[in-house]
Amino acid sequence: MAVSSRDFQVLTTEEVAAQLKALRSRQPVNYWAFYSSQLGGIVTDPALMVIPFDDHMVHRGHGIFDTAGLVDGKIYDLEAHLDRFLLSADRSKLRLPCSRDEMRDIIIGTTAASGKRDGSIRYWLSSGPGSLELTPAAGAEPGFFVMIFGGLSYPERWYREGLKVMTTTYPIKAPLYAITKATNYLPNVLMQMEAKQAGFDNGVFIDDDGNVGESSNMNVAFVSRDGALVHPKFDHILSGCTSLRLLELARVLKEQGVVKAIEVRDVPVAEARLAREMLLLGSSIKVAPIIQWDDHAVGDGKPGPVSAALLRLLDEDMRSGDRLIPVPY
Ligand SMILES: Cc1ncc(COP(=O)(O)O)c(C=O)c1O
Repeated sequence: MAVSSRDFQVLTTEEVAAQLKALRSRQPVNYWAFYSSQLGGIVTDPALMVIPFDDHMVHRGHGIFDTAGLVDGKIYDLEAHLDRFLLSADRSKLRLPCSRDEMRDIIIGTTAASGKRDGSIRYWLSSGPGSLELTPAAGAEPGFFVMIFGGLSYPERWYREGLKVMTTTYPIKAPLYAITKATNYLPNVLMQMEAKQAGFDNGVFIDDDGNVGESSNMNVAFVSRDGALVHPKFDHILSGCTSLRLLELARVLKEQGVVKAIEVRDVPVAEARLAREMLLLGSSIKVAPIIQWDDHAVGDGKPGPVSAALLRLLDEDMRSGDRLIPVPY
C-alpha cells in the first residue's frame, strides 16, 4: 500500500509545543535553566531547551563545549574552563557571538536564574544554522548556549571501593581533535559503551606509541612504583582543568612526602601496569581510584592514599579556594 502525506500529521506550532512537553514528561530531566543566544534569553521549561536541527553543531559536529562545576552557590575554576573554551573555538574556526566578559556574565546570570546552588554548568558554541552544507551557511550567526543541570553522577562505590577500567579497542582521537573540546564524542561514547558492556566502569585510550591517553570524559593519572604522581602529557589528550589544578595542589603532598615527585610525561603502558595507584580525574568525577585495569589488579587492588589525599585537596579547593565566583542569586 502506498504511503501518502495524509498518513502523517502536519503539526501546528501549538501541537509541536505540546509534543515537546510530552517528550519531557515521558522522560524527566534535571535541566534547570537554559540560555540560548538564538532565543535571546533564558528558559526554565526543559521542553523549550531546543536548538534548530540545521545548526552546524547538530548535523556536522561543528561546535564546542565545556563544563564547570557549581558548588554551594559558587562557580569553580570558570576562568580555566573559559580559557580552554576559547582555545577550542579558535582551533575549530568558530566565530564568537560576544566577548569573553559577556559570556562569563551570561553563564553567571543563567546560573542565578536556575536558583540552584549545586550542579553543573555546561555551555556550547555552535557555528549556527542556515544550511546543510559542510562549510557554515553564509550569514550563519554563531550560537551560544548555557545549561544549568544536575550534573553527571557516579556511584558512591567508585570512591569507596574503586572502579574497573578496560583498554578500549577504539582508536584514540588524533591529537588535534583530542586537545579540542568539540562536540564530536563518538570515540568517547563508544569506549564507555564498550566498557560497560564488558562489565567494566569505563575505558582507557592508548596512543599509537603505546602510551596511556585518557578516559571517556576524564583524565587518567598514576602513582608510580617509586611514589611519583605521573600524568600523561597534554599534547594528545584534553587539558583537563581538574588535572591541571591537581598538579598544582599536589605540591603540598610532595612537601609532606606523600608523593615523591610530580611528573607530566609520556606514560608507557608497560610502566603504568606496575603503578601503585591509578586515578580518574575530571570535573564531574573529581578524583576516583581505579583498582582494576583489564585483568590486572592496580597496586594491592584497593583504593590508595594518594587518590584519597587528592580528593580531599580538590574538595577543599572547590569549597574555599581562590577560584570561586559567587553567584548573585
Ligand atoms: C575527553 C576528556 N578528557 C578529560 C576531561 C577532564 O577535563 P576536566 O577536568 O576539565 O573536566 C574531560 C572532561 O571535560 C574530557 O571530556
